[in-house]
Amino acid sequence: MSRTAYVNGAYVRQSDAVVSIEDRGYQFADAVYEVWSVFDGRLADLEGHLNRLERSLAELKIAMPMPRSALLVVLTEVVRRNRIREGMVYLQISRGVAPRDHVFPDNVRPAMVVTAKPVDRIAAAKKALAGITAKSMPDIRWGRCDIKTVGLLPNVLAKQAAREEGAGEVIFVDSDGYVTEGGSTNVYMIGTNGVILTRDLKANILAGVTRLTLLKLIAGTGLEIREVAFTLEAAKAASEVFITAATSLVMPIIAIDGHLIGDGKPGPVASALRDSYIIHARNTALV
Ligand SMILES: Cc1ncc(COP(=O)(O)O)c(C=O)c1O
Repeated sequence: MSRTAYVNGAYVRQSDAVVSIEDRGYQFADAVYEVWSVFDGRLADLEGHLNRLERSLAELKIAMPMPRSALLVVLTEVVRRNRIREGMVYLQISRGVAPRDHVFPDNVRPAMVVTAKPVDRIAAAKKALAGITAKSMPDIRWGRCDIKTVGLLPNVLAKQAAREEGAGEVIFVDSDGYVTEGGSTNVYMIGTNGVILTRDLKANILAGVTRLTLLKLIAGTGLEIREVAFTLEAAKAASEVFITAATSLVMPIIAIDGHLIGDGKPGPVASALRDSYIIHARNTALV
């Protein structure tokens, strides 16, 4: 079945879909994006991603191309047309199309693209049962990683370097030796006292929507989580390390830079949190 994309007002065959060579997303990475996971044909953490989208757009002074209600129609229509039951939806909004000039063009309309693809949940579950490895890398990104822009070249290069070493994710480390976040995920460790740690949002990281939901879920358990900085060395010595994102949900990290975390197997806390997150996301997915 050929896939269908939404591109600036029309639903088109994805293989035929095109955007302008003067789209500012293409020329300047002047664009933001969001990714939702889809469970049973419905969008998980719907509101959280919409809230962050509006914030990212506002930070860049790009107007919402349409009201939330219309956006929802487009997102669900792309899911429906691609017959996605288990998968993900990608939304990208750029400042628009204009003759190349760094400063914002006048009267430009934002350009919007939505695509969707299926996810093999059984393969993902197997991956989580095995856990993945990570490679640490200096965090050389710009100072506004709180905005979810498509300017991802440092992330691309870091994730490629990880891949070339057989690692599944990058762990970015700031110039003081503290973990910031993953190449496309938020990072957590469990200290010797059983407390879960994750970097606070005052740091230059993205406020993960999965992170936000997980913090709320953890608050309803006996577990304690603190939003504080921790070093790469502390993470390597932790009993468990895991990451979260709409794409990987909750994923155990079993080794960093070849150093085993705990006994080198996914830990009980990460595995339980993955299950709780998936149950919650499935039960609260909307539209
Ligand atoms: C750099 C970075 N941090 C964190 C995340 C996790 O965010 P979310 O849970 O909203 O998917 C992502 C997701 O793409 C990301 O790119």
